[in-house]
Amino acid sequence: MTAPATIPLGYAVGSGEPVAVPLRHLAVTGQTQESGKTTALEALVTRAGVPALAFVTKRGETSFAGGRRVPPYFRDRADWQFVTSIIDATLQEKNKFLRPWIMKICRNTRTLADVHREVKKALVKAKGINEGVYTQLDAYLDLIVPEIARVPMTPGLTLTPGLNVIDVSAYATPMQMLFIQSAIDWVNRQERHVVTIVPEAWEFIPEGKGSPVKASAVELVRKGAGIGNFIWVDSQDMAGVDKVILRGCTVWLIGVQREANEIKRNLSNIPAGIARPTAGQIARLEKGQFYACWRDNTVLTYVRPAWMSENQATAIAKGLLSVDRVRPPAPAPKPEEPMSAGLEQKFDQLSGKFDQLIGALSGRSTAAPAANPLSAPPQEVASRPADTEPLPAGEEALYQRFKARLIAELPSDPVVMQVVCSKPELRVEVERQVVTIDGSTLRGRIARLIADGWFDQPRTTGDLVAELGRRGYDGGQTININVGKEMKAFSEMGFFTRENKWYTLAAGMKVNVVEK
Ligand SMILES: Nc1ncnc2c1ncn2[C@@H]1O[C@H](COP(=O)(O)OP(=O)(O)OP(=O)(O)O)[C@@H](O)[C@H]1O
Ligand SMILES: [Mg+2]
Repeated sequence: MTAPATIPLGYAVGSGEPVAVPLRHLAVTGQTQESGKTTALEALVTRAGVPALAFVTKRGETSFAGGRRVPPYFRDRADWQFVTSIIDATLQEKNKFLRPWIMKICRNTRTLADVHREVKKALVKAKGINEGVYTQLDAYLDLIVPEIARVPMTPGLTLTPGLNVIDVSAYATPMQMLFIQSAIDWVNRQERHVVTIVPEAWEFIPEGKGSPVKASAVELVRKGAGIGNFIWVDSQDMAGVDKVILRGCTVWLIGVQREANEIKRNLSNIPAGIARPTAGQIARLEKGQFYACWRDNTVLTYVRPAWMSENQATAIAKGLLSVDRVRPPAPAPKPEEPMSAGLEQKFDQLSGKFDQLIGALSGRSTAAPAANPLSAPPQEVASRPADTEPLPAGEEALYQRFKARLIAELPSDPVVMQVVCSKPELRVEVERQVVTIDGSTLRGRIARLIADGWFDQPRTTGDLVAELGRRGYDGGQTININVGKEMKAFSEMGFFTRENKWYTLAAGMKVNVVEK
């Protein structure tokens, strides 16, 4: 496949002239929700003419909805560098101390489960410092190995032309990292002319901290361009993103930022030799406007989203139409997941049995097999729960016989056993997540706002940063990133739902905030 040299991005603000950027390693930055980073990446992908691979990491994220869903792929590894990077990611820092023990353990291991088993074996006999180290390693591996065991194994990735999307939002961050790392490794080894989009780059390819994704992403940056593979990184703040990767990005899209220091730090990460706008110009950008920077070009561009017509986009670029007047189409409803063959068979089996049961209970005896098990004496089974409607004497006996037969026929299936034996009620068990109000932590301060009713109306992270500041919180230069992280954690705990930039407090969650 011959890749296009440039990709249409949008229209120059003012003149409305078309703007296209070279297909290279690319970085996009700008304030959360206010800039439109993901929308810009989505737009480029649909016009790039090469397959692209994106990841959905946030629950409820509506971006990349039009892409073909690809099951996550994970390739197990157990070399010491890989194990070290997982532990670094868990600890949020580089840890050289544990390295000799990891090297020793990983000498003959093939999978992370092997590593975990070896650690547990070593722990049995360990004394003193060894005992401490193996206990730590055991605890870190406990966080990831059971999750890996739950991942459906796929032999690799099948990428098709256009946008391919791997949705890993249902997994915790360490497992998301392993999926992204495996996918990038796959692209490095197997693919040509593929664009890989790394979301939330400050989290997945951080500067100064370990992450399993980093080595694979660095390899993509160093060797990818020669074979047409490119990385596109997305991060609201580039200060926390690995510098090797940023130095490899020769096309930059810079969206609005309002905080002076953040703008300065972002600009300082643009490799030398690429022209760039001034801090003042960046602060005045509007939604969907980016400075497209490569070599000696800095073109103020209105990005045309994938869903927008060329006429509308040109009108916005020329200032004839307000960007807020045009809304993206509502996402199409998700098609229902088909049942797996095994589940369907079980379902048919069960509905047949329940039809028989209901037929018998209502007096419509179904054709009984030659040796009629219904005429057999009832086995010892627990009686029906006391709080269900009493059945007439004959029917109660019949019910017990059916129940006995169902249990006898499907004894090894715990799910079916539960259906047959349990009370006729659905119980959804929800783990109650409790957050403590505590002025010394960011999470505790957000908890205070929940308790005070400040979240009784939907809020954005921008609102939240402003309110925290108003209440005297000094979050320093990384406040936006940290607030974003906390809101992600709160959402994962079920406190908030997120719709575009708006966080809405889930009903009844206020009671889960407690005073210290
Ligand atoms: N060029 C554009 N024209 C019109 N609307 C846009 C444009 N870009 C983004 N938007 C709208 O702005 C909102 C935020 O966009 P998007 O999700 O792309 O932001 P983001 O910078 O990726 O945010 P985050 O950092 O939270 O991921 C969305 O509702 C999107 O439809
Ligand atoms: Mg985004």
